[in-house]
Amino acid sequence: MLAVVADTEVPLAGQLGADFYQNPLAYFARMRDEGPVTPAVLPNGQRAWLVTRYADVRAALADPRLHKDWRKMAPPDWEPDPVNGYLSVHLLNADPPDHTRLRKLVTKAFTARRVAGLRPRVEAITATLLDAIEARVAVLQETGGEDTVDLLDSFAFPLPVTVICELLGIPAKDQDEFRAWSNAVVASEGEPGSFRAAGLAMFNYFTSLVAAKRANPADDMVSALIAASDSGDSLDERELISMLFLLLIAGHETTTNLIASGALALLTNPAELARLRSDPALLPGAVDELLRFVNPLNHATERFTLEPVEIGGVTIPAREWVLCATASANHDDGRFPAADQLDVGRDAGGHVAFGHGIHYCLGAPLARLEGEVAFGALLSRFPSLSLAVDPSSLRWRHSSLIHGLETLPVRLR
Ligand code: HEM
Repeated sequence: MLAVVADTEVPLAGQLGADFYQNPLAYFARMRDEGPVTPAVLPNGQRAWLVTRYADVRAALADPRLHKDWRKMAPPDWEPDPVNGYLSVHLLNADPPDHTRLRKLVTKAFTARRVAGLRPRVEAITATLLDAIEARVAVLQETGGEDTVDLLDSFAFPLPVTVICELLGIPAKDQDEFRAWSNAVVASEGEPGSFRAAGLAMFNYFTSLVAAKRANPADDMVSALIAASDSGDSLDERELISMLFLLLIAGHETTTNLIASGALALLTNPAELARLRSDPALLPGAVDELLRFVNPLNHATERFTLEPVEIGGVTIPAREWVLCATASANHDDGRFPAADQLDVGRDAGGHVAFGHGIHYCLGAPLARLEGEVAFGALLSRFPSLSLAVDPSSLRWRHSSLIHGLETLPVRLR
């Protein structure tokens, strides 16, 4: 994450304060007006060029002059930390031809059939989690306690992480441990110590999992990836472990925030919620509108220039980091009229919440499936679902990449 920052003389126009985390869209709206391609310093000190208008973001995401393999930016004698070295040789840090090779292999294992086949399991996991929430609320009511639940902790987080663990073939008995590690990896932005400990634990776990699946293959993605790699010499052990790491992290953090922030968006837009309840056929389109509207990611992952690159009429010098603000693009009135309004009947096609170009989200079909099942079940089971706190009191996590709530207290009835 912006670990190797080029030292340049570029003037820094945008200094984003800590309030950026609480309301990134307000910053982005200003930038779209005043400096749509501008050098900025993020609240955590990272510096990068921010691209904020829809057309520029889409063009930048598809521009081969914006690279991702950070080894090209590193000094010649630079050696990665061994744990990082084992977890980071994945799609989001690769450029063609490595990216093309890795993407082909994982696409072979992550088939549409495998994703569609997951629907019954996603529905069953959803039902089990909602049963547990209902039972807890019943006990709370009987004992006269507060009848609120944190929808993030009890539903939005466990659903995607359970699904991704099942997809990969991580045994149920190990899933709790896994949740804790992956939470530590993501929560530890700027804390190398806890990232390293959790990363090392995951690396050790994946190494033994791969050995076990090699000995006893099953109908899961780890086995499919091993089969793909063993059929040629095109995916080495480091790339295999890094791929599993990426799938696990990318597979749940984002979806968690689609579910939690999407629920918040519906609860704070009661007319749209009522419209969706009265016409469930709107649901698939509404999931895309919620993705456009809530944006589980503020921006795509980092890219960098190796030569001067012009974007939107501005020349970004060589060896600069670039962040494409996908959340900003999705709120650009030039592309989505009245973009700051939620409209569950809108055609949100063309939104960039899943990115664009060669790194377009590999898990988009799975994320859409989980969103449909999760919102469908929440709305049909809890017709009186409501927020238990004033929305202005809700807090967003301190992460520039991930836009996610800290908690989402709700009442079921
Ligand atoms: C709402 C949920 C999700 C959102 C908003 C989302 C968003 C994104 C975005 C914006 C990118 C492109 C990043 C870039 O260009 O820098 C991406 C890539 C990726 N996503 Fe997702 N994602 C979601 C769910 C998932 C799931 C469920 C999985 C896996 C099971 C997944 C796996 C990946 C992978 C492997 C990549 C890298 C693709 C590549 O570099 O070729 N994502 N995602």
